[in-house]
Amino acid sequence: MNLKPHERIIVALDGLGLDGSLDTIDELTPYAGVFKVGFDLITRQKADIVAAYAAGKDAKAFWDSKLFDIPNTVGDAAATLAAMPSVGMFNVHCFGGSNMMRAARQAVDEVCLGGSAPSILGVTILTSFDYAQLFQMGLLPPLTEKQRGQDNGKSAIEVMIGGLVLRLAVLAKNCGLDGVIASPKEIRSIRQACGSDFLIVTPGVRPEWAAANDQKRVMTPGEAIAAGADYLVIGRPILKPPPEIGSRVKAAQLILDEIAEAMSTMQS
Ligand code: C5P
Repeated sequence: MNLKPHERIIVALDGLGLDGSLDTIDELTPYAGVFKVGFDLITRQKADIVAAYAAGKDAKAFWDSKLFDIPNTVGDAAATLAAMPSVGMFNVHCFGGSNMMRAARQAVDEVCLGGSAPSILGVTILTSFDYAQLFQMGLLPPLTEKQRGQDNGKSAIEVMIGGLVLRLAVLAKNCGLDGVIASPKEIRSIRQACGSDFLIVTPGVRPEWAAANDQKRVMTPGEAIAAGADYLVIGRPILKPPPEIGSRVKAAQLILDEIAEAMSTMQS
Protein backbone atom coordinates (compact mmCIF):
# COMPACT_ATOMS: atom_id res chain seq x y z
CA MET A 1 0.00 0.00 0.00
CA ASN A 2 1.26 3.38 -0.99
CA LEU A 3 0.48 5.21 2.23
CA LYS A 4 2.15 8.32 3.63
CA PRO A 5 3.58 7.95 7.15
CA HIS A 6 0.74 9.80 8.90
CA GLU A 7 -1.88 7.78 7.01
CA ARG A 8 -0.52 4.66 8.71
CA ILE A 9 -1.33 5.84 12.23
CA ILE A 10 -4.73 4.83 13.61
CA VAL A 11 -5.41 6.59 16.90
CA ALA A 12 -7.65 4.50 19.16
CA LEU A 13 -10.24 6.91 20.63
CA ASP A 14 -10.59 4.85 23.81
CA GLY A 15 -12.40 6.24 26.86
CA LEU A 16 -12.48 9.83 25.65
CA GLY A 17 -16.22 10.43 25.33
CA LEU A 18 -17.64 12.62 22.59
CA ASP A 19 -15.93 15.91 23.43
CA GLY A 20 -12.61 14.26 24.17
CA SER A 21 -12.74 12.37 20.88
CA LEU A 22 -13.49 15.51 18.85
CA ASP A 23 -10.71 17.44 20.64
CA THR A 24 -8.30 14.57 19.94
CA ILE A 25 -9.17 14.60 16.25
CA ASP A 26 -8.60 18.38 16.15
CA GLU A 27 -5.25 18.02 17.88
CA LEU A 28 -3.91 15.00 16.03
CA THR A 29 -5.27 15.22 12.48
CA PRO A 30 -1.98 16.41 11.03
CA TYR A 31 -0.21 13.42 12.61
CA ALA A 32 -2.73 10.62 12.12
CA GLY A 33 -4.84 9.66 9.14
CA VAL A 34 -7.30 7.33 10.85
CA PHE A 35 -9.30 7.42 14.11
CA LYS A 36 -10.73 4.23 15.59
CA VAL A 37 -14.20 4.43 17.11
CA GLY A 38 -15.03 1.48 19.33
CA PHE A 39 -17.87 0.01 21.36
CA ASP A 40 -17.85 2.87 23.85
CA LEU A 41 -18.75 5.50 21.25
CA ILE A 42 -20.95 3.07 19.30
CA THR A 43 -23.11 2.14 22.30
CA ARG A 44 -23.39 5.78 23.35
CA GLN A 45 -24.63 6.48 19.82
CA LYS A 46 -21.84 8.97 19.24
CA ALA A 47 -19.75 6.99 16.77
CA ASP A 48 -21.37 8.49 13.67
CA ILE A 49 -20.77 12.02 14.96
CA VAL A 50 -17.11 11.25 15.61
CA ALA A 51 -16.66 9.47 12.27
CA ALA A 52 -18.25 12.33 10.35
CA TYR A 53 -16.06 14.82 12.23
CA ALA A 54 -12.92 12.89 11.29
CA ALA A 55 -14.04 12.70 7.67
CA GLY A 56 -14.57 16.48 7.69
CA LYS A 57 -10.91 16.84 8.67
CA ASP A 58 -9.76 14.68 5.79
CA ALA A 59 -9.12 11.72 8.08
CA LYS A 60 -10.72 8.28 7.98
CA ALA A 61 -12.76 6.54 10.65
CA PHE A 62 -12.12 2.90 11.51
CA TRP A 63 -15.43 1.58 12.84
CA ASP A 64 -14.31 -1.11 15.30
CA SER A 65 -17.61 -2.98 14.93
CA LYS A 66 -16.27 -6.57 15.33
CA LEU A 67 -19.36 -7.98 13.60
CA PHE A 68 -20.14 -11.66 14.32
CA ASP A 69 -23.59 -13.11 13.58
CA ILE A 70 -25.44 -15.07 10.90
CA PRO A 71 -24.48 -14.00 7.37
CA ASN A 72 -27.76 -12.20 6.67
CA THR A 73 -27.51 -10.04 9.79
CA VAL A 74 -23.86 -9.21 9.23
CA GLY A 75 -24.60 -8.42 5.58
CA ASP A 76 -27.25 -5.90 6.69
CA ALA A 77 -24.88 -4.25 9.16
CA ALA A 78 -22.09 -4.16 6.57
CA ALA A 79 -24.45 -2.52 4.07
CA THR A 80 -25.34 0.14 6.63
CA LEU A 81 -21.68 0.87 7.33
CA ALA A 82 -20.85 0.92 3.62
CA ALA A 83 -23.55 3.55 3.07
CA MET A 84 -21.89 5.89 5.58
CA PRO A 85 -19.32 7.94 3.66
CA SER A 86 -17.34 8.65 6.83
CA VAL A 87 -16.55 4.97 7.49
CA GLY A 88 -13.17 4.21 5.94
CA MET A 89 -12.77 0.75 7.44
CA PHE A 90 -14.68 -1.64 9.68
CA ASN A 91 -14.13 -5.15 10.97
CA VAL A 92 -15.80 -8.55 11.32
CA HIS A 93 -14.67 -11.59 13.31
CA CYS A 94 -13.07 -14.29 11.15
CA PHE A 95 -14.64 -16.77 13.58
CA GLY A 96 -17.98 -15.81 12.04
CA GLY A 97 -16.95 -18.13 9.21
CA SER A 98 -16.60 -17.94 5.46
CA ASN A 99 -20.30 -17.45 4.63
CA MET A 100 -20.48 -14.54 7.02
CA MET A 101 -17.32 -12.90 5.66
CA ARG A 102 -18.55 -13.35 2.08
CA ALA A 103 -21.89 -11.80 3.04
CA ALA A 104 -20.09 -8.73 4.36
CA ARG A 105 -18.05 -8.48 1.14
CA GLN A 106 -21.13 -8.86 -1.05
CA ALA A 107 -23.10 -6.27 0.91
CA VAL A 108 -20.32 -3.70 0.64
CA ASP A 109 -19.90 -4.34 -3.07
CA GLU A 110 -23.63 -3.99 -3.69
CA VAL A 111 -23.82 -0.69 -1.85
CA CYS A 112 -20.64 0.82 -3.26
CA LEU A 113 -20.95 -0.46 -6.85
CA GLY A 114 -17.26 -0.17 -7.61
CA GLY A 115 -17.00 3.31 -6.07
CA SER A 116 -15.12 4.18 -2.93
CA ALA A 117 -15.77 1.44 -0.37
CA PRO A 118 -14.70 0.94 3.24
CA SER A 119 -12.00 -1.66 3.79
CA ILE A 120 -13.32 -4.78 5.52
CA LEU A 121 -10.86 -6.21 8.04
CA GLY A 122 -10.99 -9.58 9.77
CA VAL A 123 -10.29 -9.97 13.47
CA THR A 124 -8.32 -13.22 13.70
CA ILE A 125 -7.80 -14.21 17.35
CA LEU A 126 -8.19 -11.63 20.07
CA THR A 127 -4.87 -11.22 21.83
CA SER A 128 -6.69 -11.66 25.14
CA PHE A 129 -7.20 -15.36 24.28
CA ASP A 130 -4.57 -17.65 25.75
CA TYR A 131 -4.00 -21.34 25.07
CA ALA A 132 -6.25 -22.45 27.93
CA GLN A 133 -9.24 -20.58 26.54
CA LEU A 134 -8.65 -21.70 22.95
CA PHE A 135 -8.33 -25.29 24.20
CA GLN A 136 -11.56 -25.00 26.23
CA MET A 137 -13.36 -23.91 23.08
CA GLY A 138 -11.99 -26.88 21.15
CA LEU A 139 -9.92 -24.69 18.85
CA LEU A 140 -6.55 -26.15 19.84
CA PRO A 141 -5.55 -29.75 20.68
CA PRO A 142 -4.19 -30.86 24.07
CA LEU A 143 -0.45 -30.49 24.55
CA THR A 144 1.57 -33.71 24.33
CA GLU A 145 3.86 -34.84 27.16
CA LYS A 146 6.83 -34.00 24.95
CA GLN A 147 5.59 -30.47 24.30
CA ARG A 148 4.98 -29.94 28.01
CA GLY A 149 8.46 -31.22 28.76
CA GLN A 150 10.04 -28.54 26.61
CA ASP A 151 9.59 -25.07 28.15
CA ASN A 152 6.22 -26.04 29.62
CA GLY A 153 4.68 -26.11 26.16
CA LYS A 154 5.37 -22.41 25.51
CA SER A 155 6.94 -22.73 22.07
CA ALA A 156 4.39 -25.35 20.93
CA ILE A 157 1.59 -22.99 21.98
CA GLU A 158 3.18 -20.09 20.04
CA VAL A 159 3.36 -22.26 16.92
CA MET A 160 -0.25 -23.46 17.33
CA ILE A 161 -1.70 -20.00 17.89
CA GLY A 162 0.40 -18.55 15.05
CA GLY A 163 -0.87 -21.32 12.77
CA LEU A 164 -4.49 -20.63 13.70
CA VAL A 165 -4.09 -16.89 13.10
CA LEU A 166 -2.50 -17.56 9.72
CA ARG A 167 -5.24 -19.97 8.74
CA LEU A 168 -7.90 -17.39 9.61
CA ALA A 169 -6.03 -14.65 7.71
CA VAL A 170 -5.84 -16.80 4.57
CA LEU A 171 -9.53 -17.65 4.94
CA ALA A 172 -10.37 -13.94 5.27
CA LYS A 173 -8.42 -13.22 2.10
CA ASN A 174 -10.15 -16.04 0.22
CA CYS A 175 -13.52 -14.64 1.31
CA GLY A 176 -12.65 -11.27 -0.23
CA LEU A 177 -11.80 -9.31 2.91
CA ASP A 178 -9.33 -6.47 2.41
CA GLY A 179 -7.12 -7.37 5.34
CA VAL A 180 -6.84 -8.43 8.96
CA ILE A 181 -5.99 -7.14 12.40
CA ALA A 182 -2.91 -9.00 13.62
CA SER A 183 -0.55 -8.79 16.55
CA PRO A 184 3.01 -7.70 15.75
CA LYS A 185 4.44 -11.21 15.86
CA GLU A 186 2.15 -12.45 13.11
CA ILE A 187 2.82 -9.67 10.60
CA ARG A 188 5.59 -11.42 8.67
CA SER A 189 3.88 -14.75 8.16
CA ILE A 190 0.61 -13.11 7.09
CA ARG A 191 2.41 -10.80 4.69
CA GLN A 192 4.22 -13.77 3.19
CA ALA A 193 1.05 -15.88 2.84
CA CYS A 194 -1.41 -13.18 1.78
CA GLY A 195 0.69 -10.95 -0.46
CA SER A 196 1.47 -7.27 -0.64
CA ASP A 197 -2.07 -5.96 -1.31
CA PHE A 198 -3.61 -7.54 1.78
CA LEU A 199 -3.94 -4.99 4.58
CA ILE A 200 -2.33 -5.72 7.92
CA VAL A 201 -3.45 -3.55 10.82
CA THR A 202 -1.42 -3.99 13.99
CA PRO A 203 -2.15 -3.03 17.61
CA GLY A 204 0.33 -3.71 20.41
CA VAL A 205 2.72 -1.05 19.13
CA ARG A 206 5.01 0.61 21.62
CA PRO A 207 7.84 3.07 20.96
CA GLU A 208 10.97 2.52 23.08
CA TRP A 209 9.95 5.44 25.29
CA ALA A 210 6.43 4.18 26.06
CA ALA A 211 5.16 1.80 28.74
CA ALA A 212 3.92 -1.59 27.53
CA ASN A 213 0.79 -1.28 29.77
CA ASP A 214 -1.22 -4.49 29.35
CA GLN A 215 0.14 -5.28 25.87
CA LYS A 216 2.19 -8.48 26.04
CA ARG A 217 3.97 -8.92 22.70
CA VAL A 218 4.89 -5.47 21.53
CA MET A 219 6.94 -4.06 18.67
CA THR A 220 8.13 -0.53 18.09
CA PRO A 221 6.44 1.43 15.27
CA GLY A 222 9.58 1.11 13.15
CA GLU A 223 9.80 -2.65 13.68
CA ALA A 224 6.12 -3.18 12.85
CA ILE A 225 6.40 -1.20 9.62
CA ALA A 226 9.62 -3.04 8.67
CA ALA A 227 7.87 -6.36 9.34
CA GLY A 228 5.16 -5.42 6.82
CA ALA A 229 2.32 -3.71 8.72
CA ASP A 230 0.26 -1.18 6.75
CA TYR A 231 -1.47 0.51 9.68
CA LEU A 232 -0.60 0.79 13.39
CA VAL A 233 -3.35 1.12 15.99
CA ILE A 234 -1.97 3.26 18.79
CA GLY A 235 -3.79 4.43 21.89
CA ARG A 236 -2.05 5.13 25.18
CA PRO A 237 1.45 5.97 23.89
CA ILE A 238 -0.12 8.96 22.11
CA LEU A 239 -3.11 9.70 24.34
CA LYS A 240 -1.21 9.36 27.64
CA PRO A 241 2.45 9.93 26.79
CA PRO A 242 5.07 9.68 29.56
CA PRO A 243 6.00 12.97 31.24
CA GLU A 244 9.41 13.13 29.52
CA ILE A 245 7.68 13.23 26.12
CA GLY A 246 5.47 16.04 27.29
CA SER A 247 2.51 16.19 24.93
CA ARG A 248 0.32 14.10 22.68
CA VAL A 249 1.44 16.07 19.66
CA LYS A 250 5.09 15.41 20.50
CA ALA A 251 4.38 11.69 21.00
CA ALA A 252 2.57 11.49 17.67
CA GLN A 253 5.37 13.40 15.92
CA LEU A 254 8.01 11.02 17.31
CA ILE A 255 6.03 8.01 16.11
CA LEU A 256 5.54 9.62 12.72
CA ASP A 257 9.29 10.22 12.42
CA GLU A 258 9.97 6.60 13.34
CA ILE A 259 7.52 5.34 10.69
CA ALA A 260 9.01 7.65 8.05
CA GLU A 261 12.50 6.40 8.87
CA ALA A 262 11.45 2.74 8.65
CA MET A 263 9.78 3.41 5.31
CA SER A 264 12.83 5.13 3.88
CA THR A 265 15.09 2.28 5.05
CA MET A 266 12.77 -0.21 3.32
CA GLN A 267 12.86 1.76 0.06
CA SER A 268 16.64 2.16 0.01
O1 C5P B 1 -3.52 1.89 24.23
P1 C5P B 1 -3.13 0.84 23.21
O2 C5P B 1 -2.10 1.35 22.22
O3 C5P B 1 -2.72 -0.44 23.86
O4 C5P B 1 -4.47 0.59 22.40
C1 C5P B 1 -4.54 -0.39 21.39
C2 C5P B 1 -5.90 -0.41 20.78
O5 C5P B 1 -5.98 -1.54 19.91
C3 C5P B 1 -7.07 -0.55 21.77
O6 C5P B 1 -8.20 0.15 21.22
C4 C5P B 1 -7.33 -2.03 21.78
O7 C5P B 1 -8.66 -2.35 22.10
C5 C5P B 1 -7.02 -2.40 20.32
N1 C5P B 1 -6.67 -3.81 20.12
C6 C5P B 1 -5.62 -4.42 20.77
N2 C5P B 1 -5.35 -5.75 20.55
C7 C5P B 1 -6.09 -6.45 19.69
C8 C5P B 1 -7.15 -5.85 19.02
C9 C5P B 1 -7.41 -4.51 19.26
O8 C5P B 1 -4.92 -3.78 21.55
N3 C5P B 1 -5.78 -7.71 19.46
